[in-house]
Amino acid sequence: MRPPPPAVVRLVQRLSDALGRAGLALQPPQARFLQLTGGVASIMLMRAALETKLVEPLAHGPLTAPALADRLGLHADTVHRVLRGLAVYGLARLDSRGRFSLTSTGRLLLDENPHSMSGWIRYLTSPLVIQGWFRIPESLRDGLPAFNAATGKTIWEHLAENPEEEDGFARTMRELTLMAAPLIVAAYPWPETGTVCDVGGGVGSMLAEVLRRRSGLRGLLVDQAGPLAGSGEYLASRGVAHRVTAVEGDLFTGFRADANIYLLKDVLHDWDDAQCRQILRTVRDAARPGARVLVLEWLQERNRAEFPVSVSDIMMLAQTEGRQRSASEFFALGSAAGFERGRVIDTGAYGIVELVAA
Ligand SMILES: C[S@@+](CC[C@H](N)C(=O)[O-])C[C@H]1O[C@@H](n2cnc3c(N)ncnc32)[C@H](O)[C@@H]1O
Repeated sequence: MRPPPPAVVRLVQRLSDALGRAGLALQPPQARFLQLTGGVASIMLMRAALETKLVEPLAHGPLTAPALADRLGLHADTVHRVLRGLAVYGLARLDSRGRFSLTSTGRLLLDENPHSMSGWIRYLTSPLVIQGWFRIPESLRDGLPAFNAATGKTIWEHLAENPEEEDGFARTMRELTLMAAPLIVAAYPWPETGTVCDVGGGVGSMLAEVLRRRSGLRGLLVDQAGPLAGSGEYLASRGVAHRVTAVEGDLFTGFRADANIYLLKDVLHDWDDAQCRQILRTVRDAARPGARVLVLEWLQERNRAEFPVSVSDIMMLAQTEGRQRSASEFFALGSAAGFERGRVIDTGAYGIVELVAA
């Protein structure tokens, strides 16, 4: 299915944000405040549902809590209370006969749904991520990235040492990328032939969607050993494995990959400015003059508070050394690494910032 044009995506987003703000503004401050405090409840209830496979039986039709509890070997009254909580957040529906069903949003909790967001919820609520959030008061004092300061290592070092968590993170990125990919793929004038290299591409979820769009393109996938190990199966499931070569490489020390287009999707937002310049230099060293780098990220203007980008920026503070940036900030980083300015394309959600190898 073709995504709507970027202007429509933007308009719907703005309208929905404005209606949300108007709804909140109608409430007295205390009521608004109480509503905000539900944030932890919504994601922790989702996690509880995932851990117990609570919503899976609801995929086939409405059930009461005792019927569900019976099937899953759970405590009936608690099942009722937890699902009623999920209904408050629009993930389930509760009818007057005490039967629960899943809403279309709630269906995103189903592991088997091709649009599932279950990996994202597991990651977001994992002790790994939560410890970064707890350290933010210290970051306010010393400006240090929360996760690194709390654990003494980067999130990438942690993931490389914990393969199960690394798989969970790869699933999370796949889910998030598959949400954005249709907009990105539709918005850029991809060439018919040539090579696209996805740098820090994980299992290759962005690359796969580009290759599916253009049958004459080939792909290079650069990442570390862990994510690359899962890429073969994933790329095969998208029907493009035979057109992709995996290249184990490092963002900082280099890799060999001769391509026409390099993708950096949600990579630079993990790193500080000096590290970003180094990553861009690494890509510049691999590229020929005229090659293009597409920075694919939510764009953050300094004085604009906007969902989801400003929340993602805080997540970067909690988990990485990075931040969300504006197109001008990417151009400045690119210029220091041997790139000229290219286009900026607003896909309606993600931005595409094009850098051209000088
Ligand atoms: C936030 S994820 C983005 C993944 C993918 N681009 C996407 O959007 O789905 C960052 C990626 O950078 C990779 N990465 C982190 N440090 C790296 C390094 N030093 N060299 C190569 N890749 C690295 C991680 O393994 C991960 O796949």
